[in-house]
Amino acid sequence: MGLLLFNIGELANLDSGDVSKPLSGISMSDRENLVLEPGYAILIDKGLISKVAPEEEIIGEYAPDFSNGKSDVIDLLDVNGNAIIPGLVDCHTHLLWTGDRSNEMNLRQNGSTYQEISAQGGGINRTVTSTRKASKQELISLGRERLSQASTYGTTTIEAKSGYGLSVDSEIKLLEASSELTNNICNVLPTWLGAHDFPKDKSKQEYMEELINVQLPIVCENNLAKWVDVFCEPGWFNLEETESIVNAAKELGLKSRLHVDEFVDSNGLNLAAELGSASADHVGFSNSDSREKAHASGTMQVFLPGTPYVLGKDLGNGINDCLDNNWNFSLATDFNPNCQTLSLPFVASLATHRLGMDPLAALVACSRNPASTLNSELKLNVGSIYEGGPADINILKSKFVDYWCQTPGISPIEKTFSSGSIV
Ligand code: NIG
Ligand code: FE
Repeated sequence: MGLLLFNIGELANLDSGDVSKPLSGISMSDRENLVLEPGYAILIDKGLISKVAPEEEIIGEYAPDFSNGKSDVIDLLDVNGNAIIPGLVDCHTHLLWTGDRSNEMNLRQNGSTYQEISAQGGGINRTVTSTRKASKQELISLGRERLSQASTYGTTTIEAKSGYGLSVDSEIKLLEASSELTNNICNVLPTWLGAHDFPKDKSKQEYMEELINVQLPIVCENNLAKWVDVFCEPGWFNLEETESIVNAAKELGLKSRLHVDEFVDSNGLNLAAELGSASADHVGFSNSDSREKAHASGTMQVFLPGTPYVLGKDLGNGINDCLDNNWNFSLATDFNPNCQTLSLPFVASLATHRLGMDPLAALVACSRNPASTLNSELKLNVGSIYEGGPADINILKSKFVDYWCQTPGISPIEKTFSSGSIV
């Protein structure tokens, strides 16, 4: 029978053209084709969007006895004139780890670089030490808490990387924990990031061999991850190492999403484009030729402005370069021990309040566009609101869609539906 949502304000369905594909440039701000005026209603049935149509039409058909906001034939929800946006899609998180590195900010403020902090025993390997000690059960409960936090900010689909284990057992533990997290509030899609750093207890060569000959086959045989990721950056995995890991994974059927060009332009984005990666993330320092090439080869550029923000760095020009040149890009949180936010509205606030991005374009960059890098692993395309699609939707606390990213630190979300259930 279903649930009928009526009295809706602006409705950003983002339903133009092929919803499985990303949008770029001014088409990300195309209100006429992406946002319906107030006056539409939505019918949710069996977890799906079964109809989006003008309110009078839909009420006439499904709630013919409608009066004073009530009906005896169908459940109704009065949205109170508030705007609706799709469930948000966070395509880059380091969801599972334990420990505390809040002392590192002071080190940074006293002039230590990310590389120096890492060399002095901080950084990724410090989180590895604590995460290795955590049991799978502890990681699962931590993961559940974090997912419920993400969902208070409207996220209904999330990618979750391993990478704080750096050993066979602990990488597998992290991936098994993520695979137990999928629940009725969020789709969780795991990525194997064994190549996040080199562990302190092995030589580089030994670890490369372990990654390719031990971790990777176990991950694939047990279907523990949908993608492989590598931290490709000078001082971590170089271009050749990245390529050999990605190619070995490709042979076993794993696609890639990579960390590239976060601190310098090392041609990482160019490599990701050549390898046909689903996404290349950070990309703060990538050059224009690589950006153009990535767009042409279908590699999504994913900006993570929360990371330069917490590291005290400039947010860069990459986002606006992509907008100006019609190159596909997305935004994501990069939730990790330094950048502890699971709020896409906050990340979008950085892009809109600091970089002048249009809130609607930022919404596309946090829903339909990142979804296009994950849809292949889901039953239905997420990131937009269309008939036959999953009922992943957010009701805002405002009649305007643009409100969604204008309350940094406070959630703009009134109510979230994930596969038709209220979160
Ligand atoms: O994406 N840069 C690599 N990985 C994470 C952070 C790692 C860490 O500092 O724990 C990132 O920013
Ligand atoms: Fe990251």
